[in-house]
Formats: sequence, C-alpha cells, structure tokens
Amino acid sequence: MEILITGGTGFIGSHTVVELIKQSHSVTIVDNLSNSSLSTLSNIEKITNTTVPFYEVDCSDKEKLNEVFKTKQFDGVIHFAGLKAVSESIELPLLYYRNNLDSTLSLCEVMESNNVSNLIFSSSATVYGSVKELPLTETSPTGQGITNPYGQTKYMLEQIIKDIAVSHPDWRVSLLRYFNPIGAHESGLIGEAPNGIPNNLMPYIAKVATRQLPFLRVFGDNYNTKDGTGLRDYIHVVDLAKGHIAALRHLADQENNVEIYNLGTGQGTTVLELIKTFEQASEVQIPYEIADRRPGDIPACFADVSKPKKELNWQATKTILEACQDTWRWISKNSD
Ligand code: NAD
Ligand code: UFG
Repeated sequence: MEILITGGTGFIGSHTVVELIKQSHSVTIVDNLSNSSLSTLSNIEKITNTTVPFYEVDCSDKEKLNEVFKTKQFDGVIHFAGLKAVSESIELPLLYYRNNLDSTLSLCEVMESNNVSNLIFSSSATVYGSVKELPLTETSPTGQGITNPYGQTKYMLEQIIKDIAVSHPDWRVSLLRYFNPIGAHESGLIGEAPNGIPNNLMPYIAKVATRQLPFLRVFGDNYNTKDGTGLRDYIHVVDLAKGHIAALRHLADQENNVEIYNLGTGQGTTVLELIKTFEQASEVQIPYEIADRRPGDIPACFADVSKPKKELNWQATKTILEACQDTWRWISKNSD
C-alpha cells in the first residue's frame, strides 16, 4: 500500500515507518519537525536501505498538505502528528488545542477532497481519564476525569473523527489507544528524544543512567499497587508499530467503519519494577528518592487486549527487559 505518515520522524512514527517498509509498503512522511529532526529520516533510511519521500509541512497548512496529496494516490494515512507533553499542555493549552485539533481537521478535509478514506489515528489511554475498573476495555467509559488539555484533545479528536465517519460511510477508521510506549529500535539508530527534562518515566530513567540528571523522583509509594508505586502498561515501541500494520491490514474487513483498539500488553509494571529492570539491562545503578504523588496521576492503568488479539491477530511479544536493553543501547549511543 501507499501510505502517508504524518509525524513520521517522531518516536512512534519513525518505528512504524521502518516496520511498514519491512513489510514492503511505500511510505511518504509529512512532519513539521517541531519535535523531531531530519537525522531521524537519515537513520530510517540507514535501517531500511530505502529513500523515503519527506515533506516538511505543518498538517494545519491545508494548501501545502494538498500539494503532498497531489504527488501520488495514497491508500491510507496514519496520523501521528501532534503535540504530546502533558505538563506543557497545561501551561500552553491554546497551543495544544490549536495544533492538535487544527492539524487533524485540515488533514481530514484534505483526505476528503482527495478521496482518501482510510485513516489510522493515534489516540491514547488518557481518554479513559480516571476510570478505576481495570483492565480497561475499548468499551470502558471515556472523557471523565481527564486532567490535562493534551488528553482532552485526544478525547475530542476521537469524537470528531467518529462524526466524520458517520457522514462518510465509505471511510474506514481505526482509533488506536496507546498505553505507555517505551523502548527503541534494536539498531540503536532511532528512539525517543524528548526536548529538555523528560516528563515520562522511561526517558527520565535513561537520563539518570547517563548521569545527565542526578536522580529520579518516584511520585508516590502509597498507592494500592503491589509495591505502592504507580503501575502502567508499558509497551515496546516496535510492538506498537506492528499494531499499526495489523490495523491497516484489517481496515477493509472491519465490522464497523470506525473501530477502536487498545494497544498495550495487558500487563502492569510498577515504577520500582521498571527501575530494577533498567538496572539489570544497563548494569548502571539508578539513584531515586520517593517524592509526593504527582497531581493528576492515576494509581494504575493497564489494557484488556483481547479485542486486538482476536480481530487484528496482533499482540505484543517483547518484554520490559528487551525494552530497557533497547532504550539503553539507544541512549548510550546518543546521550549527547
Ligand atoms: P513525537 O513528538 O515523537 O512525534 C510526533 C511528531 O509530530 C513529531 O515529529 C512532531 O514534529 C510532529 N508534529 C507535531 N505537530 C505537527 C503538525 N502540526 N504538523 C506536522 N507535524 C507535527 O510523539 P510520539 O510519541 O511519536 O507520538 C505520536 C502520536 O502518538 C502523538 O499523536 C501522540 O499524542 C500519540 N501518543 C503518544 C504516546 C506516548 O507516550 N509517546 C501515548 C499515547 C499517544
Ligand atoms: N513517574 C515517576 N517519576 C517520574 C516520571 C514518572 O515516578 O519522573 C511515574 C508516574 O507517577 C507514573 C509512571 O511513572 O506512575 C508513568 O508515568 P509517565 O509520565 O511515564 O506516564 P503516564 O502514564 O503518566 O502518561 C503517559 C503519557 C500520556 C498518556 C498515558 C497513557 O504521558 O500522554 O501515558 O498512554 F496518555
């Protein structure tokens, strides 16, 4: 298939591009490079030994996006482009609502006018908000207790895309709710590279391991989890990338023209367990201190993954240890 990837030089997009090319799909990338760099493109090309057409375009720019759509007839779009830092979204809500909503609305309009009707959208487990009943299934309630503008954009965009699909019965849409993506490509050439001090646990641990940060603060040790620290469903980014290909393959056979899938492992790992596993993978000690709970955090979150297993014939296979090993390889090579 001929696939357009928005946000294709970002963390999850770049790994998905690699997996698509491995499966003989043709890929074109659009990214405004607001949170990624061209070095990722050359590393994708090194891994795949393929030249990937790239356009430095903001998805909100309909005119330029339309020009990209005129270069070939795309069979589908995987839409990763968006801003994703939770704390930044609280400081800069207008930027987040403008960027994430505008880019998606423009993309859908340009898809419509170019008769492209297959869409895979990057959603997030954040849409489940403060739901307490675990594991989370695709039918668990959404939109309640979302604590930040970033999460709201994902919830709103799911509603918007569902409405578009109602008015366009020929569209085939897959809304993929990611749990906590971690890890990197085994080559050590692509991985996660957040700007500044990371918010998320794994990139923070990685910076402590390379001694760019002195210690980790563990946000709370009095939750009702096995060791009192927060529990999440960490999924290796290469497994996540493969989930997109499974969803793409299944689009034409979907029972409804919009389907939702949880992409997680179904397993929960605590903060202390992740620290220990990273120490094992890297043979580096991770100093940490117990701190107060982080406002807005939920105690625990993990997916029920029976729907993607049954319908997409997909499940995560990589372990947390492999994710830590791959992160360590990536960060050791690229700590500057
Ligand atoms: P990322 O920041 O590494 O990648 C996103 C890419 O989109 C970046 O390369 C950025 O430059 C680009 N971009 C942003 N706004 C754009 C715009 N208007 N036009 C064109 N390009 C634009 O993030 P990621 O971790 O790869 O996440 C990809 C998607 O998955 C995002 O939509 C994110 O919200 C979603 N998601 C991520 C996580 C996570 O923890 N990483 C979890 C759930 C959902
Ligand atoms: N944590 C720490 N110290 C840190 C960072 C995190 O103890 O320095 C803890 C958190 O308290 C939480 C766990 O590590 O218990 C995971 O935190 P992350 O920030 O890595 O991830 P979250 O589950 O809070 O949120 C992430 C993304 C969201 C996304 C959500 C579900 O940031 O955008 O996963 O996909 F919505």
